[in-house]
Amino acid sequence: MKDEEDGFKSPPCLLVIFGGSGDLARRKLVPAMYNLYLDGLLAEGSVILGLGRRDMTHEAFRATLRESAGQFSRQAIAEEKWGEFEKSIYYLAGEIEKQQLYDDIFAFAENMAGERTPPSNRLFYLAIPPTFFSDACCGLRRAGLVTSPYGSPCSRVIVEKPIGHDLSSAQEINNIISDVFHESQIYRIDHYLGKETVQNLLVFRFANSIFEPLWNHHHIDHIQITAAEEEGIGTRASYYEGAGALRDMVQNHLLQLLCLVAMEPPWSLDPDVVRDARLAVLRSLRPIVGEGVNHYTVRAQYGPAIINGAEALGYRNEVLIPENSTTETFVAIKAFIDNWRWAGVPFYLRTGKRMKKRTTEIAVQFKSVPEVLFNANHDLSEDPNVLVLRIQPEEGFSLRMVSKRPGSKVRVVPVDMNFQYNQAYGGVSPEAYERLLLDVMIGDATLFMRRDAVEAAWSWVTDILTGWQKQELKSLPEYPAGSWGPMEAWRLVEHYNRKWRDV
Ligand code: BG6
Repeated sequence: MKDEEDGFKSPPCLLVIFGGSGDLARRKLVPAMYNLYLDGLLAEGSVILGLGRRDMTHEAFRATLRESAGQFSRQAIAEEKWGEFEKSIYYLAGEIEKQQLYDDIFAFAENMAGERTPPSNRLFYLAIPPTFFSDACCGLRRAGLVTSPYGSPCSRVIVEKPIGHDLSSAQEINNIISDVFHESQIYRIDHYLGKETVQNLLVFRFANSIFEPLWNHHHIDHIQITAAEEEGIGTRASYYEGAGALRDMVQNHLLQLLCLVAMEPPWSLDPDVVRDARLAVLRSLRPIVGEGVNHYTVRAQYGPAIINGAEALGYRNEVLIPENSTTETFVAIKAFIDNWRWAGVPFYLRTGKRMKKRTTEIAVQFKSVPEVLFNANHDLSEDPNVLVLRIQPEEGFSLRMVSKRPGSKVRVVPVDMNFQYNQAYGGVSPEAYERLLLDVMIGDATLFMRRDAVEAAWSWVTDILTGWQKQELKSLPEYPAGSWGPMEAWRLVEHYNRKWRDV
């Protein structure tokens, strides 16, 4: 169904959210559905059914969602519109482990179906810990809520990271879901793929003719991918302590950015063709095994610091974090992609909590010009060209070039050509979850992680985890909260014209 202006309208759907009163539903999912509704992208007759353990009336459930939507919705709440929208929100209490819940969902869905032909598609969002996936999937199947992949109404399942904590646990979770749902019905979310600027990477690379000829080891010196966060671990201590930055950010978000920047041009935009191209990058990543972790990875924890006159806690002083914790809150990796295009080009990845500022960007540094003419002075070599794709905030891109400063002397200085989304298009781009939920409703899996990609990413990351385990470190290096990370990270980029960008 094509919407006149700006995208595809969903067919009518029943969205069942396991963990309906949880954080994800309140902060992301329901606000995203509300914005789709405001933008006219949600089909009439679509319904949200929140599930939870606590007894609650539909009205009480709607009231909690109204409150959080006020805080987290991209577009301001218009009371009249919200009033209409919330009529399609319902709540059902039950225990995940008990079949009764699934029979109740079935009765609800049948009741809805009675009111419409053809019946709405059924989407099951598992916003719950993976330990409950088996109960949820089997319960849905037993209740007859899982249709064949080609049946109608169709049923789809949506899962969030973390999908496992290493390769074998990821395989286990995938087996559990795949036992009930066909791969084409499984939508694994990596919310970075839903970000407007991340989607633009393919357009940027393959709808402009000027970049592709330069996009290889002949012209590119190295690529830096940074995802820095100003915030600490907040209220997620128990999850984060068991995860760390490598599992939390690199295994999914950073590797997906890497895939998009490094992949070969897909031969079509068919979801599986694009996903095959991303997968090929993951499979070409050079494994970092054994002692390799000493040379190619750095991990660290944020330490205490004074930020803007206020004391900031170090990671090991955070509530619920053990004093002897060795969970990394920062990781930097020098990665190589062993294929013809990228032979010898380092990809530097870094991410951390409590860094200087929140920023996610990909910086492509081109090779320097020869040391002749304007670059003849070896001690004062010119800045190389750098293309920066800013994912967030200040979404946009810039190209650093060198130019002559006006005057009688020849003085060359770096200048930036800058493009900013908000200046060009105004307003705030749709949230990642808006796009992703719409895609699940439509049945477009391009921006979702296929099983083979999740496992290929885990395979690479698990080698690093194993190498780290063998190091048997009693403590990790620290970086002051509010900084760009530990000094140790600099040794990864030691090379005469390379340094971490002070973004
Ligand atoms: C999540 C991680 O997947 O991504 C969080 O679990 C992290 O730790 C978040 O803060 C970052 O997402 P964004 O969209 O704020 O960059």
